Amino acid sequence: MIELKRDILSVLDMKDDFEQILNEALKMKSGQKKTQKKDPLKGKVLGMVFEKPSLRTRMSFEVGMTQLGGSAIYISPNEVQIGKRESVSDVANVLSRYVDVIMYRAFSNQVMRELAKHASVPVINGLDDMEHPCQCAADLLTVLEKKKALKGLQMVYVGDGNNVCNSLLLGCALVGMNMRAATPKSHRPDKDIVTKAEEIAKNTGAKIELMSNPFHACDGADVVYTDTWISMGQEAEKAEREALFLPYQVNDKLTEKANKDWLFLHCLPAHRDMEVSTAVIDGPHSVVFDQAENRMHAQKAILLAALSK
Ligand code: CP
Ligand code: NVA
Repeated sequence: MIELKRDILSVLDMKDDFEQILNEALKMKSGQKKTQKKDPLKGKVLGMVFEKPSLRTRMSFEVGMTQLGGSAIYISPNEVQIGKRESVSDVANVLSRYVDVIMYRAFSNQVMRELAKHASVPVINGLDDMEHPCQCAADLLTVLEKKKALKGLQMVYVGDGNNVCNSLLLGCALVGMNMRAATPKSHRPDKDIVTKAEEIAKNTGAKIELMSNPFHACDGADVVYTDTWISMGQEAEKAEREALFLPYQVNDKLTEKANKDWLFLHCLPAHRDMEVSTAVIDGPHSVVFDQAENRMHAQKAILLAALSK
């Protein structure tokens, strides 16, 4: 029997079992579920290819693989130089001869898809310019853990309509969570992703709204989420971005009308008193370290799903 490999390049690649992945992750985290067998990924090797720096993605994937009985190998941004030292397809073919699954952090979603096309083992997106799907799984896992539900809650994303925002739109749409993205007009989330999220939302009952006013957006929020204003690779735009996004800082004033017990999420790394005030990120509503831990639990469930096909 030919087994189809399963890539997870977008939140959409988990669409049929996204909630199941979240529930499995929650069960594994709480210890209710010891996975079917001991060390389910024994002997399996994850190759982790990074074109950009990382703390959480690298650590959570490596520790997660180890906990499942497998192992992980890290390749740093200087080593492979995909498309420069070697073509994307050659890298994909070679890696597929050594490892059982690839995690790739890329600059470009196009290169991500090309690598996946040529790899014969599953490829998991560890962030590119379009999406950060594993982050989204951890984000919604954190909300589920804290609020015991997802459907009907109000997620508010404030700041840059970037990769994290794109994945969150798809994730919220899938689980029936309402999402408002408050961004400057010039930095809205990706058009095609918004269209896709709206399509999905029709079936799940989620309400998707794009707006520019972060105060309106935060009115009635159950979750307020922000990310850096300067994503990796955008360092040259630092000054203009800081000026543009300043009104979008998540602080006590902005969140005055959020619902009682609202949660603050940030994928990290964070920049205190830039996209979020110190008082909010270090305050009682913040669950950012649970969220960081949940990367590992979510990814364990994703790895099991990717390797069980
Ligand atoms: N949130 C996240 O992906 O963090 P790293 O860049 O440290 O992996
Ligand atoms: N939007 C950020 C996320 C970092 C985890 C970036 O792409 O750099």
